Amino acid sequence: MAGVSESDRESTVDEVLGGSDLSSRVFVVTGSSSGLGEESARGLSARGAHVAMAARDPVKNAEAVERIRASVPDADLSIHELDLADLSSVARFAERAAGSLDRVDVLINNAGVMCCGEGRTADGFETQFGTNHLGHFALTLRLMPLLRRSESPRVVTLSSGGHRIADVDLADPNFEATPYDGWIAYGRSKSANAHFAAELARRCGGGLLSFSVHPGAIVTQLGRHLTPELIDELMARARASASGQGGGSGAGLRFKSVEAGAATQVWAATAPDLGAHNGQYLADCGPTAPGPGDRGHEPWIDDAATAGQLWELSERLVGLSFSDS
Ligand SMILES: NC(=O)c1ccc[n+]([C@@H]2O[C@H](COP(=O)([O-])OP(=O)(O)OC[C@H]3O[C@@H](n4cnc5c(N)ncnc54)[C@H](OP(=O)(O)O)[C@@H]3O)[C@@H](O)[C@H]2O)c1
Repeated sequence: MAGVSESDRESTVDEVLGGSDLSSRVFVVTGSSSGLGEESARGLSARGAHVAMAARDPVKNAEAVERIRASVPDADLSIHELDLADLSSVARFAERAAGSLDRVDVLINNAGVMCCGEGRTADGFETQFGTNHLGHFALTLRLMPLLRRSESPRVVTLSSGGHRIADVDLADPNFEATPYDGWIAYGRSKSANAHFAAELARRCGGGLLSFSVHPGAIVTQLGRHLTPELIDELMARARASASGQGGGSGAGLRFKSVEAGAATQVWAATAPDLGAHNGQYLADCGPTAPGPGDRGHEPWIDDAATAGQLWELSERLVGLSFSDS
């Protein structure tokens, strides 16, 4: 592993991975058809890893494979269909993965949708909570048998600085009683991603490394649902948060390139000696602490009681149990 300093926010995927040899490693990357997922798949496969690229649109996923092979001709990639907004698709993907992969060393729960209009997944969950959190929750539980076959399994789950917008609402996770707000739904889902990563680490008791990641602000297709009004609303929330008690990420966003944006998830997926950070929310290729800024986080994501309750709620909602996985 190249020696990337922990605090380097500009480090790229290629700098983080350096000359490492990942030829014996198997990665699953969700949302591999664009943005940070595609860049992660490119960087990992360029070091010899097998990357199972899982996305909901097979045409977009095949185009991503073509772009990767243009720079990494011998990339060891497989293409898989996975719609996280449909639990039957998650089950089908896991069944096919069990038939085609010996094991999974690292699962990168990268896919996501941000600030879309109000909607429901195939199973009736609010779209952002259902896709970003519940879909990945079900996927991880279903892939546990393959992860347990790895000598050093890891699960990296994309959260976001957007977790600062709202903590999970355990009483009304699907906006049945609360009026829908796209930013609040995104914030809740990204807090859920951080709680999930922390609780997975606790439940695995050191047998698996689990992290959540804030990649930074990167121009990708994630912003496809944004209107000028929604962008103004986000900026107003960031300013209010920065001047309030919780800190917030400041009055403006400093953007990273896609290559630097995907660096933290690839670092979390491969760097040695991360055991001391198991369960934590990482950013800029390093740990974070409660407080403002990109290297900070809201204290609520460290609340183990909320994480445990979210886990139990999620098990009930998706109809799966970790103890049976
Ligand atoms: N970009 C940023 O500034 C930023 C900041 C903080 C956190 N993040 C997080 O980083 C992750 C990656 O985002 P990105 O910026 O790379 O965005 P992106 O370019 O939009 O990529 C998102 C990926 O997720 C996939 N996806 C969406 N809904 C899905 C579903 N139901 N089932 C399966 N795949 C689905 C997308 O597929 P389609 O193209 O088919 O929809 C796409 O491949 C997200 O979790 C996001 O919340 C990003």
